[in-house]
Order: sequence, then structure tokens, then C-alpha cells
Amino acid sequence: MTLLSLFLVIAASTPLFTAACPSYSSIFSFGDSLADTGNLYCSSSKPSNHCFFPPYGQTYFHHPSSRCSDGRLIIDFIAESLGIPMVKPYLGIKNGVLEDSAAKDGANFAVIGATALEVSYFEERDVHNVATNYSLTVQMNWFKELLSALCNSSESCHDTLKNSLFLVGEIGGNDFNYPLFIRKSIEEVKTYVPDVINAITSSINELIDLGAHTLLVPGNFPLGCNAIYLTIYETNDSNQYDSFGCLKWLNEFAKFYNQKLQYAIHKLGEIHPHANIIYGDYYNAALPLYHYPSKFGFLGLRTCCGMGGSYNYNISEPCGKPGVISCDDPSQYIGWDGIHLTETAYRLIADGIINGPYFLPQFSNLCSMNLAMDRDM
Ligand SMILES: *[C@@H]1O[C@H](CO)[C@@H](O)[C@H](O)[C@H]1NC(C)=O
Ligand SMILES: *[C@@H]1O[C@H](CO)[C@@H](O)[C@H](O)[C@H]1NC(C)=O
Ligand SMILES: *[C@@H]1O[C@H](CO)[C@@H](O)[C@H](O)[C@H]1NC(C)=O
Ligand SMILES: *[C@@H]1O[C@H](CO)[C@@H](O)[C@H](O)[C@H]1NC(C)=O
Repeated sequence: MTLLSLFLVIAASTPLFTAACPSYSSIFSFGDSLADTGNLYCSSSKPSNHCFFPPYGQTYFHHPSSRCSDGRLIIDFIAESLGIPMVKPYLGIKNGVLEDSAAKDGANFAVIGATALEVSYFEERDVHNVATNYSLTVQMNWFKELLSALCNSSESCHDTLKNSLFLVGEIGGNDFNYPLFIRKSIEEVKTYVPDVINAITSSINELIDLGAHTLLVPGNFPLGCNAIYLTIYETNDSNQYDSFGCLKWLNEFAKFYNQKLQYAIHKLGEIHPHANIIYGDYYNAALPLYHYPSKFGFLGLRTCCGMGGSYNYNISEPCGKPGVISCDDPSQYIGWDGIHLTETAYRLIADGIINGPYFLPQFSNLCSMNLAMDRDM
């Protein structure tokens, strides 16, 4: 590929994000594998997760990047749209020198497999497959540790954080994934919802007290369209599927949770009128991909990297395991490894969040809102 054609490819792939909003100088992110850009990798002495092996990263980084996709994640596209560098994993910064310059573009606290609630919560409920201790509380403690290196008074901390975007989630999805993967009943899993939402709202309250001003709080994805769920709960009962082949009861559950989350965010907005607390509608941003795949150049519900089964997914033969191969063209797939999505899908969802209607209030409005507030100060 010549330099010119490389430039044209890059130019052709960027216009989605030209509506850059210049008013945020950094991102602080909390979450799970949808946003981890290297924390789990940095926390383990030997590569402990299948996301750390080829063909992960093949599309964009051309090697595993410790992200659970073939390329960039939603957070990478959000950073790009704000004109700031990719958000560094906190444990990577910490392993280096913890100083202002290392964290001036923000920091990412998200960890693959993380839950909003503590491991003990799940143990008490006979859910023993939680893969990591890095709960939202642990991630919040990392943030406070970092903050003490960035600023030393409430006033200076508020000043440091006022132009930062806080990405609180998606977190909480794994709190439902772990029990649902071991076939806990949906009725039981629904009883976790208030506790998960409490964990998220407590962290938001705390972040606002520490000086956070703008917080984006994403909801859950359409779980019933995801290959791992379609495989675990595969059935001959066609009534359980919608006309697009997704499991209705799982999508209903995701919508139920998202409604409760939105309500909680709305209440928080009333308590903190000076903060911008925004719901990120990942569910409705992702749904068109599953409903009209051909419109986006996708082939359907089968996953790109995997082996066997109706959806090219087998829990015993995960992507990243030797011998499990990737499809020829990941951009034709929504699902990357059966759980996580491809860079192409994440790019489209990010675009829906940034430029489309799936971010309330809209991202572009938020830019002008923020500028207006700065003028008022
Ligand atoms: C969680 O922490 C406990 C206690 O420190 C440790 O024994 C356990 O191995 C950890 N589990 C995981 C999955 O990291
Ligand atoms: C707080 O930190 C700033 C630099 O970030 C430094 O100039 C100032 O002396 C510190 N103040 C106190 C009270 O430690
Ligand atoms: C669907 O029915 C076929 C034929 O009876 C059976 O072999 C198969 O195991 C069933 N699949 C599921 C997921 O129940
Ligand atoms: C999944 O993989 C395991 C182990 O290789 C194999 O025994 C099983 O038959 C596979 N299941 C499907 C549905 O292909």
C-alpha cells in the first residue's frame, strides 16, 4: 500500500468523527472488558486471558493490544472524537511513574471481567465463576489514589476534573453475565438489579463530590443477540426468538435493567443540578446492527472468531486458543469472539453515541452546554 492510498484509507475512515467537541481535556473510565485498554494485562504476571493472544488486535493494532476485540473499543473512538490520545490503563501508568504528565489525558480503570458488586455478593448467592476481584469499588479506590497525585485540595481537584469526561461503565453487565452463564433463573438475576444500580449511583455520587462534572453512564447491550447467550440458551422453541433471531427474554431483561438505570440517573440529575449525568444508550445504538445487518455490511448473528455450533461459538473453544481461527473479514461481523464485538461494530455504536440520538442529551448539545457553563464561571 502506498503512503497516499494509506492516507486515503485513513481519511475515508475518519469522517464519522469530524464533529469533534474540543471542550474535554481528559477521560476517566470505569468498567469491564468493553473498555479495558490494558489493566488486566498489567495486573497479571503471565498472560491470563484469551484476549491477550492472537488474533485479538489483528485489525487495528496488528498484534494483541490487551483489548477484547480485533481492534479499537468504544472508548478509543470517544477519545478520538475528543481529539485526545487513547486512554491509558491506570495500572500501566502506576507501573511507570505516577505523575501529572502521565495522567494528564486521564486514565482508564476498567478491567476485563469486572463487576459493579463485590465477589462476596456473588459467593453468597452461589455464583462462583466471577473471574476477577476488580470491582467498581476497587476501581474507585485507584481513582482516588491517582487523584491524590494530581491535586491536593478540594478546590484544585475540582479544577483538575472540571473538563474531564467520566465514563462510568458499561459496568454491571458482568454482574448478570456470571449468574446467567451458569443458568441462574432470570427471576433471581432480576433481584440483583437494585444492588447493581446502587453500586453505580454511589460511585457517581462520590465522583461528583470529588469534582466530576460530566459523566456518561452507558447501559447494557441487547444480550439476546449475543452469540454466547444464543449458544447457551439455544432452543427449538421458536417463540423465544424475535423476527431477527435474538432471544426475546434476554433483550427484555436488558431493557428492564436499562430503564431502572435511566431512572436512577434521572434522580441523580435532580440531586446534582450542576453536573451533567448522561445516559449512553448502547442498547439502542447496537440494535440496528442486529436488526438490519446487511445495511451495515454484516452477515448476521454468527461470530467472527470461534469454532462450531450454530453461531460459530463454543465456550470450550474460545477465540485466542491455539487452533481457533478468525473469519477472513471481521468487518463483516458484529460479534468478534462470541461475547465482545468487532471494531467495526464498536465504531458504529460509538458513532451512534457521539453523533446520533443515543446519548441523552446529545453529545453535540453537551459540547455547547459545557462551553456555556464555562462562560458562566
Ligand atoms: C481475589 O482475591 C482473593 C484474596 O486476595 C484471592 O485469593 C483470589 O485469588 C482473587 N481472585 C481473583 C479471581 O483474582
Ligand atoms: C499542591 O500542589 C501544587 C502542585 O500541584 C503545589 O504547587 C502546591 O505547593 C501544593 N500545595 C500544598 C499545600 O501541598
Ligand atoms: C432441537 O430438536 C432436535 C431434533 O429433535 C434435537 O436433536 C436438538 O437437540 C434440539 N435442540 C435443542 C437446542 O434443544
Ligand atoms: C465444543 O467443543 C468441545 C470441546 O472441543 C466439544 O466436545 C463439543 O462437541 C463442542 N460443541 C459443539 C456444539 O460444537
